[in-house]
Amino acid sequence: MKQKDIPSLSPTAPIILEMNRISKSFGAVTALVDVSIKLRKGEVLALVGDNGAGKSTLIKILSGFHHPDSGTIVYQGKEVHFDSPREARAHGIETVYQDLALINHLSVYHNMFVGREHHKRILGLKLLDNQKMRKLAKTYLDTLGIEIPSVNSAVDMLSGGQRQSVAVARSIYSSPTILVLDEPLAALGVRESAHVLGLIQNLRRQRSVSIILIVHNYNQVFEVCDRINFLHSGEIVLDASTSATSEEELIRIVKAGLGREAIAAAAAEVSTVTKWTEPSQGGESQA
Ligand SMILES: Nc1ncnc2c1ncn2[C@@H]1O[C@H](COP(=O)(O)OP(=O)(O)OP(=O)(O)O)[C@@H](O)[C@H]1O
Ligand SMILES: [Mg+2]
Repeated sequence: MKQKDIPSLSPTAPIILEMNRISKSFGAVTALVDVSIKLRKGEVLALVGDNGAGKSTLIKILSGFHHPDSGTIVYQGKEVHFDSPREARAHGIETVYQDLALINHLSVYHNMFVGREHHKRILGLKLLDNQKMRKLAKTYLDTLGIEIPSVNSAVDMLSGGQRQSVAVARSIYSSPTILVLDEPLAALGVRESAHVLGLIQNLRRQRSVSIILIVHNYNQVFEVCDRINFLHSGEIVLDASTSATSEEELIRIVKAGLGREAIAAAAAEVSTVTKWTEPSQGGESQA
């Protein structure tokens, strides 16, 4: 499904997440400087930028994996402090990490249900309902068209692409409020990438989950995302809707510079860059 087939996000869609002026250093390395992002309900936001730009650090702060040195996170209208990924997940923020997606020695179906296992009672004892989880996992992966040898396989027996597909499937299965995908296509082949992009596109059409997607391929950004935030050396240098910019313009911005000023100057030339517009309180829509 192409971009044009999906109606654009309503400008009155409420803001579900604001990360305000987030800064983070690791010793002498400054990873993020005063980074602010906003995400609306049902929006698919692309976070792009070179290696080391700070993308993973930003989403690891959102998911409670890292703590910011300064800045605030406002989620569903309230300031939040997540102390662990488990806490963020309990609040409906599901993250598929670039580097630590699954528990390798566990089976596919156990991985699908980590933290939300199904149980049964036998003679008063609470036991894992493996049969049920196996069946549900198989049905769900089949529905998503994800092909793996068996849901009984340990995850470390799968290919990198299969592992990533399972991780993405698991995150979608949990019906999150915000889904964060850090390079979910990196290990995938052409067919699998198209499939995961199709899953994201389906979620986007329904406009119930908000998604932050980190990808390096601009073509894919324009296929499935509503808005782009460009991170360079720990700072956001561009915030534009995908309908108001193009792959060529992004490439021009990247080529333009090594420093923030050069990128900002090139970004300023992109006449169609949209500024963030707050939805009006009365829910009045704008064209
Ligand atoms: N745990 C850590 N300890 C020390 N430095 C870190 C740590 N995590 C990230 N960094 C540094 O912070 C900077 C930003 O890294 P980050 O992983 O956020 O980049 P990225 O944009 O996700 O890059 P990539 O596209 O390669 O995944 C880099 O300079 C990196 O070396
Ligand atoms: Mg990263």
